[in-house]
Amino acid sequence: MSGQAGVVDDFDLVVFGATGDLARRKLLPALYHRDEAGQAPPGARILGVSRRALGADAFREEARAAVAEEAKDAATLARFLARLDYLALDAGSDSGWPDLAAWLAQRPEAVRVFYLATAPELFGPICRRLAAAGLAEGSARVVVEKPIGKSLASAQAVNAAVGACFREERVYRIDHYLGKETVQNLMALRFGNALFEPLWRSGAIDHVQITVAETLGVEGRAGYYDTAGALRDMVQNHMLQLLCLVAMEPPASLSANAVRDEKLKVLNALIPIGGANAAEHTVRGQYRAGAAAGGPVPGYLEELGNDASRTETFVALKAEIANWRWAGVPFYLRTGKRLATRVSEIVVEFRPIPFSVFQEDAGLVEPNRLVIRLQPDEGVKLWLMIKDPGHGGMHLRHVPLDMSFARAFGVRNPDAYERLLIDVIAGNQTLFMRGDEVEAAWRWIDPILAAWAASPERPKPYTSGTWGPSAAIALIERDCRSWYEAPE
Ligand code: BG6
Repeated sequence: MSGQAGVVDDFDLVVFGATGDLARRKLLPALYHRDEAGQAPPGARILGVSRRALGADAFREEARAAVAEEAKDAATLARFLARLDYLALDAGSDSGWPDLAAWLAQRPEAVRVFYLATAPELFGPICRRLAAAGLAEGSARVVVEKPIGKSLASAQAVNAAVGACFREERVYRIDHYLGKETVQNLMALRFGNALFEPLWRSGAIDHVQITVAETLGVEGRAGYYDTAGALRDMVQNHMLQLLCLVAMEPPASLSANAVRDEKLKVLNALIPIGGANAAEHTVRGQYRAGAAAGGPVPGYLEELGNDASRTETFVALKAEIANWRWAGVPFYLRTGKRLATRVSEIVVEFRPIPFSVFQEDAGLVEPNRLVIRLQPDEGVKLWLMIKDPGHGGMHLRHVPLDMSFARAFGVRNPDAYERLLIDVIAGNQTLFMRGDEVEAAWRWIDPILAAWAASPERPKPYTSGTWGPSAAIALIERDCRSWYEAPE
């Protein structure tokens, strides 16, 4: 049996990089919660693999600490920990693989999942060694995380190395934004309601904004981050995926390829940015010292200990899609670290009314806006004009129809990894990126990176705790529009 709500097929999940950050912060807690929800079959097992010489008991203790905050029930915790086992194996070496094969051979009928929570350089070598050990056969699946390359060429190399061992139907490329509840809700909103689709086009929509703002800095990841920057770290994947879900045509079904074919068409229709138009369409910034969470914080260069870095921690850009539906509708994207507040939001702004029947003292007739809040306080707001009831005459006010998911449903919002891990086991690729999608995204990103590299300009400085460099405001105000800021 398979599916999100029920018990999934019996599985053996092998996590490479099991003692690392991703496993501790995301994977183990997610697996615990799905076990708690009753989705793991009784026999399901999880094997932690890493180079460290640990015993299974020591690994279980690490796992216990990783889920301590979430684990409210002792019996569930005991059941979860009993599923864990550990194998010390250097994924970069040829020895030890027969031990992994022997562990898996104990249950040949279970679905096999290999989760590569490792450095991307190891994706190819691990797949090769799995294949050499005869473990890439049958229904075995492999899960890889971003970064999938840092350019089109390197992404193609990763896809080729993984693809040499696992067929595309067995490769699950995670973009954890696709596992977020409200991101999936975008599809429910668009395709489960007759209301929006007729208006979902350039005739009725003025522009779209996508903001993913973080208050955190690079938090000890400066080594990785300095080789990536906000464009690679957030735009190439998460933000372009959000753009695709907003812009794609209705798929014929929610099957993996139907959805991914539509997203791919959007990526291929993005008007290239690069060379001379990069300066007009993009802004990059780098945070300086300032404030976060009520206290002082250092600037990016101080954290990095390298004054020369030109890595951007903020990017704003104006993307355009050359197709019938979206011609002339800009998509403004912005993301950054150490911004004023943590918020991820998609704003669809409709066109203004063509003519006002109201007198001037009725107030400004503002355009309708659909605001989809991904985090925090997930929900949807539809801003409408109504008559102000407290006002004697015909006076208008802009107010939201406001649907907060917490208020409406009052349930715990599962973490993205919970949904995605269950989907891997269930064999559902809809929320995972296909290889050609990843490559199409890089094809659009590469010329922007090249234009920045060729420019003598450095990223524009911005003070931590603000909304990024003022050039980002100018980017949208040049078009007589402004960034949406939720009223308090
Ligand atoms: C990751 C990026 O993919 O997403 C991080 O590498 C970023 O730099 C994170 O902080 C944001 O994810 P979320 O779920 O906290 O919005």
